[in-house]
Amino acid sequence: ARSLDKLYNFADCSGLHLIFALNALRRNPNNSWNSSNALSLLKYSASKKYNISWELGNEPNNYRTLIGRSVNGSQLGKDYIQLRSLLQLIRTYSRANLYGPNIGRPRKNVITLLEGLMPFAAGRLALWLPDVVNTYTPGKKIWLEGVGTTSAGGMNNLSDSYAAGFLWLNTLGLLASQGIDVVVRHSFLDHGHNHLVDQNFNPLPDYWLSLLYKRLIGPKVLAIHVAGLQRKPRPGRVIRDKLRIYAHCTSYHNHNYVRGSITLYIINLHRSRKKIKLAGTLRDKIVHQYLLQPYGKDGLHSKLVQLNGQPLAMVDDGTLPELKPRPLRAGRTLVIPPLTMSFYVVKNVNALACRYR
Ligand SMILES: *[C@@H]1O[C@H](CO)[C@@H](O)[C@H](O)[C@H]1NC(C)=O
Ligand SMILES: *[C@@H]1O[C@H](CO)[C@@H](O)[C@H](O)[C@H]1NC(C)=O
Ligand SMILES: *[C@@H]1O[C@H](CO)[C@@H](O)[C@H](O)[C@H]1NC(C)=O
Ligand SMILES: *[C@@H]1O[C@H](CO)[C@@H](O)[C@H](O)[C@H]1NC(C)=O
Ligand SMILES: *[C@@H]1O[C@H](CO)[C@@H](O)[C@H](O)[C@H]1NC(C)=O
Repeated sequence: ARSLDKLYNFADCSGLHLIFALNALRRNPNNSWNSSNALSLLKYSASKKYNISWELGNEPNNYRTLIGRSVNGSQLGKDYIQLRSLLQLIRTYSRANLYGPNIGRPRKNVITLLEGLMPFAAGRLALWLPDVVNTYTPGKKIWLEGVGTTSAGGMNNLSDSYAAGFLWLNTLGLLASQGIDVVVRHSFLDHGHNHLVDQNFNPLPDYWLSLLYKRLIGPKVLAIHVAGLQRKPRPGRVIRDKLRIYAHCTSYHNHNYVRGSITLYIINLHRSRKKIKLAGTLRDKIVHQYLLQPYGKDGLHSKLVQLNGQPLAMVDDGTLPELKPRPLRAGRTLVIPPLTMSFYVVKNVNALACRYR
C-alpha cells in the first residue's frame, strides 16, 4: 500500500496519469490467473480514489524464460476478461482504461501469442504490432512500451550520452511512420543506464531530445521527397544510410507556431556536414532551427548537450530552460553539422495536411 501511495503521488504531483501493471505471474494450478492479490490492490486503490488505468502483466511473451512456464494467447485473453470483470465490480474502476498486452522483443512467439489473444480483445485494449492488430481489430491504437536504447538496461557510458540519441530519435521516426501511436520510454529514473535523468534528477541527453520532440513534433507523419540523391528513398521513410530525414506536422500544442507548420528532424551520421535546400512551397519560408550538439570535452560521449550553441540545464529544481530556436532567413540552405541531430520548423507553410486534426 505504501509503495502504491508513493508511486501514485509521484505521478499525480508530476501531472502524469498512472498505468499500473498488475502481476500476471500469480497462477492457479490450471494456469489461469489468480486474481486475489490484484483484487486486494484494486480495493485499496479504490478506497483512496486513485485515478489509475490498468494493465495485466509485463512482457507475457517472456514468461517461459522468467518462470519456466508460458501463458498462451487465449489464456491471456481470458485473464484480461477476468480483469475487466473485476474492474466492473469496483465502482471507481468500472470504466477505467485497460491496456496491454505489453510485449517486448517482437519475435515469432509474439505473433502466436497475439493471434491467440485477439479474439478476446474486445473493449478498450490497446494492442501491438500493426499487421496483427489491423487484421483483428482495425483502428485500435498501438502503443510500444519498454523502448530504450537497448532492452537489457543499456550500456554504461553510452546509453546516457549524446550518442544514444541517434538510435532513440531514429526509433521514434521509424515507429511513427509505421503507425505506432505512442512510444513509452524505458525508463525515467534509475534502471540500468537507460534513464532520462541522473541521480540528481538532472536531464540527460535523451531527455532534452525527447523534450524537443514533444514540443515540436505532432503525430501526423508526412512523406519526404528528396532530389539529388543517387538512390531514391522510399517516400515518407528514412533516407537510407547516414542521413535520415523525417517530417511531421508541427505539434498543435506548440503555440509558437500556427497550424499548417511543418517540422523536419534530421539525423546526420556522416563525418561531414550536409546541405539541404528546401524546395517547392517550403522554399521561401522562415525556418526555426533547433540544433542539438554535445557539450564539453567528451564529444559524442558527453552527458551534456547544447541547443544552438547554448548549454542546456535546469533553471532550478522545477523549471526547464527556454528552448530558443535560431531563426534562419527564408530561402537559406540548411547546413547540417556532422554527427548531429536537429529539428527545423518550417513556419507558416499552411500545409493542408497540417491545418486540421
Ligand atoms: C490464490 O492466491 C492466494 C494467495 O495470494 C491463495 O490464498 C489462494 O488459495 C489462491 N487461489 C487458488 C485457487 O489457488
Ligand atoms: C482453474 O482454476 C481456478 C481456481 O482453482 C478455477 O476457478 C477455474 O474455474 C479453473 N478454470 C478451468 C478452466 O478449469
Ligand atoms: C482519470 O484520468 C484520466 C486520464 O488523465 C482522465 O481522462 C479522467 O477524466 C480521469 N477521471 C476522473 C474521474 O478524474
Ligand atoms: C492455452 O493454455 C491453456 C491453459 O494452460 C490450455 O488449457 C489451452 O489448451 C491452451 N490453448 C492453446 C491453443 O494452446
Ligand atoms: C565511464 O566513464 C568514466 C568517466 O569518463 C570512466 O571513469 C569510467 O571508467 C567509464 N566506464 C566504463 C565502463 O567505460
